[in-house]
Amino acid sequence: MEGFTYRGGTLHAEEVSAVELAERYGTPLYVYSRGYLRHQFRRIREAFAEIDPLICFAVKANTSAAVIHTFAAEGAGADVVSGGELYRARRAGIPANRIVFAGVGKTAEEIEYAIQEEILGFTVESEAELHRISECATRIGGTARVDIRVNPDVDPKTHKYTSTGKKENKFGVDLERAVKAYELAARLPGVEIVGLHMHIGSPVMSIDPYVEALERVAPVVRELKAAYPTLRHLDIGGGLGIRYRDEQEDLDPARLAEALLPTLRDLGLKVLLEPGRFLTGNAGILLTRVQYLKEGPEKTFVIMDAAMNDLIRPALYEAYHKILPVRETSDTLTGDLVGPVCESGDFFAQNRELPAVQAGELLAVMSAGAYGYVMASNYNSRGRPAEVMVSGGTAKLVQRRETWDNLVAGETIPAWE
Ligand code: LLP
Repeated sequence: MEGFTYRGGTLHAEEVSAVELAERYGTPLYVYSRGYLRHQFRRIREAFAEIDPLICFAVKANTSAAVIHTFAAEGAGADVVSGGELYRARRAGIPANRIVFAGVGKTAEEIEYAIQEEILGFTVESEAELHRISECATRIGGTARVDIRVNPDVDPKTHKYTSTGKKENKFGVDLERAVKAYELAARLPGVEIVGLHMHIGSPVMSIDPYVEALERVAPVVRELKAAYPTLRHLDIGGGLGIRYRDEQEDLDPARLAEALLPTLRDLGLKVLLEPGRFLTGNAGILLTRVQYLKEGPEKTFVIMDAAMNDLIRPALYEAYHKILPVRETSDTLTGDLVGPVCESGDFFAQNRELPAVQAGELLAVMSAGAYGYVMASNYNSRGRPAEVMVSGGTAKLVQRRETWDNLVAGETIPAWE
């Protein structure tokens, strides 16, 4: 299934015309396909069905309550990286006993909140964090279940900002140090060892780095399992890549499962996965309207009403997002697609063959459902866009557009003496 297709020459989100959505809700506008969110979730669930894994949606990819709730209804858990994400996941209906909490800098306040919620487990990233978790658990008289994140030192062949499983990254504990870290965890009060975690980075476009990482980690898991009978989970992380360009394909969960299942079966632990982008990336688009066409001395600029503050991936990672016209056309123009923000980095496409559009027409920035709205900011005092979810022929507003009042809420001008 696809969330966004042309019907009668107009781009539709499921059965709803993008023209209608732009008119009803304004632009820039994030639009999500509920059907596609569920489709992607089910692809992973079915691929790994034999071992019945817990699929923890990495909510950092998209924290919309409507999106999280869609996965909660499918039986998903959540992978969170802050107290705020834990709060959102709980509020959107994810049971605490399906939530794992990662991140290298958890505060005592966040840790205590998570212990009180009785989450499934902490993904521990350092020995120092183990000490803090133990102190927090002791202070509030609770137990913290922990997975230690090991760093398998494989190259996921992705952007340097989103590779996390190599030695030089700040994440996890080196594989050689892992056994010592578990010994420490076993000695600390208030801490129960429940699993082992790895995540290699994202987006990963081939199954090889996963196979390699699991091969490296498996002997350590066997050793730990023998030493700690409470060890029952193996979290293999997220990072499954998706189709951003026409010539790409999603990393196929069925192929991934086929490659990993023999080892996973043999290890005999409950398997957790933490996909974010795979579940939401191609379930979302950013709809934007052309403000002006501007002929520069060297190139044409198509100036949109969306900007880098709404979707920062092109500026931050030089990420490629496909641009589609809402009214189908095969005519093209070559130029830059840019926003109104006062930065040269404010672009969605550079020197690209774009749909030939006029001022007032609509374009869709594709694959914007992961790391889109969540990374939006108010830079240049632009309110963040609205978000809409479509299911079949019905569209619902799930996040209203920010107003100028929202921008200044919380500010005070001190009355100096
Ligand atoms: N688990 C852990 C421990 C992670 O650090 C991440 C992503 C995920 C799961 C989910 O990865 P995914 O399945 O979504 O690829 N802002 C960047 C991506 C940063 C990813 C950070 N960690 C981007 O726009 O590409």
